Amino acid sequence: TARPLIDSFGRQISYLRISVTDRCDFRCVYCMAEDMTFLPKKDVLSFEEVEAIAGAFIARGTTKIRLTGGEPLVRRDIMDLVRSLGGRIGNGLDELTLTTNGSQLAKYAEGLFASGVRRLNVSIDTLDPVRFAEITRRGRLDQVLEGVEAAQAAGLKIKINMVAMRGVNDDEIEPMMAWAHGRGMGLTLIEGMPLGEVGLDRVDTYLPLRELHERLSRRYTLTKLDKRTGGPARYVHVAETGGTLGFITPMSHNFCESCNRVRLTATGQLYLCLGQDDQVNLRDAWREGGAQGLDAALDHAMIIKPKGHDFVLDRTRSEPAVARHMSVTGG
Ligand code: GTP
Ligand code: 5AD
Ligand code: SF4
Repeated sequence: TARPLIDSFGRQISYLRISVTDRCDFRCVYCMAEDMTFLPKKDVLSFEEVEAIAGAFIARGTTKIRLTGGEPLVRRDIMDLVRSLGGRIGNGLDELTLTTNGSQLAKYAEGLFASGVRRLNVSIDTLDPVRFAEITRRGRLDQVLEGVEAAQAAGLKIKINMVAMRGVNDDEIEPMMAWAHGRGMGLTLIEGMPLGEVGLDRVDTYLPLRELHERLSRRYTLTKLDKRTGGPARYVHVAETGGTLGFITPMSHNFCESCNRVRLTATGQLYLCLGQDDQVNLRDAWREGGAQGLDAALDHAMIIKPKGHDFVLDRTRSEPAVARHMSVTGG
């Protein structure tokens, strides 16, 4: 590989998250406000531009690409991009994957598998249809469950992401685990992070995952696993269910020292940390300087990538730690 991407703290960047749209058909309470203003479509990168930028990353050692949103599968003609990036698998790229809300999966599952995708993370925070409608504001659980089934039938491995929220869905951890593990899917629990004004009280709903780990370890035999998927989750094996449970703990125990990832937004800004505003404009670098311009911009990005986030939950602060919504960077 030509000059790997190594930042000023010695961390090698090998995981690129690409947000292909900031739009979504849901409005999850922890992610978006009820009323959102989305980017004008004219500001969104073309697929040719996304491919050029992804190519620059792959040339410098990126082995894993995840498409995110908003909801990636609501971007028009998304399968064109999936197919072209899928063509890079085995040719520098080890894995192409997506994080999705599942609403469009029934339609796309087979195409995703045919393009080389083998694994998906699907966000489901509850198995109660009424609660699901409340949390997502416009989602329908049956549609998502149909999507999950279609994806499994197409041969895709599924991991369910669940944002654990006190007083919202903390009574469903065990049932969600039984459901996911019973169907051969992993379950990963996530601590809510304070990005963007959403209306939800993030202090009241915050649930440190250590607490859930303790609760679960009273009923289940949890064995720490060495398994890593390239993301921030730590995994345990659950003897009683035979499944894998993940914990993502940005608030209670950050994992920034092993950060290996950066995020491209739909407009071509490269965010260097989920919890900070440091960014490099790759759209302009490409438009004005071509491949060389991109390379120089990536070098600069490695110099300014911050050490980590400093999310805090503070009742006395009315503003979220980071002003932009999660949907800008796709988590
Ligand atoms: P795997 O490839 O399965 O490991 O996926 P992943 O965990 O990297 O991706 P996913 O999109 O499923 O993200 C799950 C959760 O982890 C989301 O809530 C993300 O916002 C969060 N997350 C991922 N990377 C980071 C990170 O670098 N910092 C923080 N604070 N959160 C992250
Ligand atoms: N905190 C933690 N996770 C979040 N997600 C969306 N918003 C937040 C937030 N504020 C999750 C989604 C999805 C993943 C990409 O990020 O549920 O699983
Ligand atoms: Fe959409 Fe995902 Fe945000 Fe929910 S969490 S509103 S599904 S982008």
